[in-house]
Amino acid sequence: MEIVPLGQGFAAELRGVTLSDVAADDAVYASVRAAFEEHSVLVFRNQEVTDEGQLAFSRRFGPPETTKVGSLGTGTHFVILTTIGPDGKVVPPDHRYAMRNKANQLWHTDSSFKSVPALTSILSARVIPENGGETEYVSTRLAFDRLDPVLRKKLEQSFAWHHYGYSRGKIAPGLASDDELSALPPQCWRMVWKNPVNGRNALYLASHAYAVEGMEPAAGETFIDELTAAATAPGTSYVHAWQAGDVVMWDNRATMHRGRPWPAHEARYMVRTTISATAVDGLETMRPPTRLAAE
Ligand code: OGA
Ligand code: MN
Repeated sequence: MEIVPLGQGFAAELRGVTLSDVAADDAVYASVRAAFEEHSVLVFRNQEVTDEGQLAFSRRFGPPETTKVGSLGTGTHFVILTTIGPDGKVVPPDHRYAMRNKANQLWHTDSSFKSVPALTSILSARVIPENGGETEYVSTRLAFDRLDPVLRKKLEQSFAWHHYGYSRGKIAPGLASDDELSALPPQCWRMVWKNPVNGRNALYLASHAYAVEGMEPAAGETFIDELTAAATAPGTSYVHAWQAGDVVMWDNRATMHRGRPWPAHEARYMVRTTISATAVDGLETMRPPTRLAAE
């Protein structure tokens, strides 16, 4: 296996390895896992992807999420991100499917609004548009390192609240349905996720984060917006331009990502599997003191 860094101090392409090698072989998994802890975003090119193959690969990293209510693929281990409607035609830009893609175009990390957040997401390209439709990543670990030491200390002791309704509300009122909102109450997480393997800290932020514990609501929102701007500073991102056969996985503890737009009449169909964080990934260190959780 060859590790080819993609140039921004994080993100690497892995060559000479397939998803099925990882699924089948403990030693291959161990080296891919080590690369994941180190590089945060891993790109696999020229893969022959099936749903089952993607899931078998994904399961290596931990327990797969079951897709929530209100997403395409609900009740399965797959999230379908598509603009192709049930009739096989590309949906209009104001269709729910298209609006969901729009919400993914805000900087975020996956599943911070769930009671168990995600370790990693694995995304495979099945139908890609001719133009645009890239996925863009930043390292929230490198972003943390760029902050001044006093702020870093403060953040290590800070907690933020995350809510699905908040990020969806930025796109359109009512985009999150009542079913989604009642299934997904606000969650509170530490604002820094320390990687238990290498001890490196990363900002834990997302479009879903709406408040900071102990700060006035408006001040907390401003603080989150400023940190997001710092974390996504121009020139710090890796932009993945999708080719057929690409699979990209990312560390939701140490990155943010966003989709990039593409012409509304072009089809795009992507399949995501998502792996829940567990104790070995540092999940327990992220929980607020019970005093906060109960409030
Ligand atoms: C995701 C996501 C962005 C994209 O799959 O979690 O945010 O480019 N995708 O489709
Ligand atoms: Mn996402």
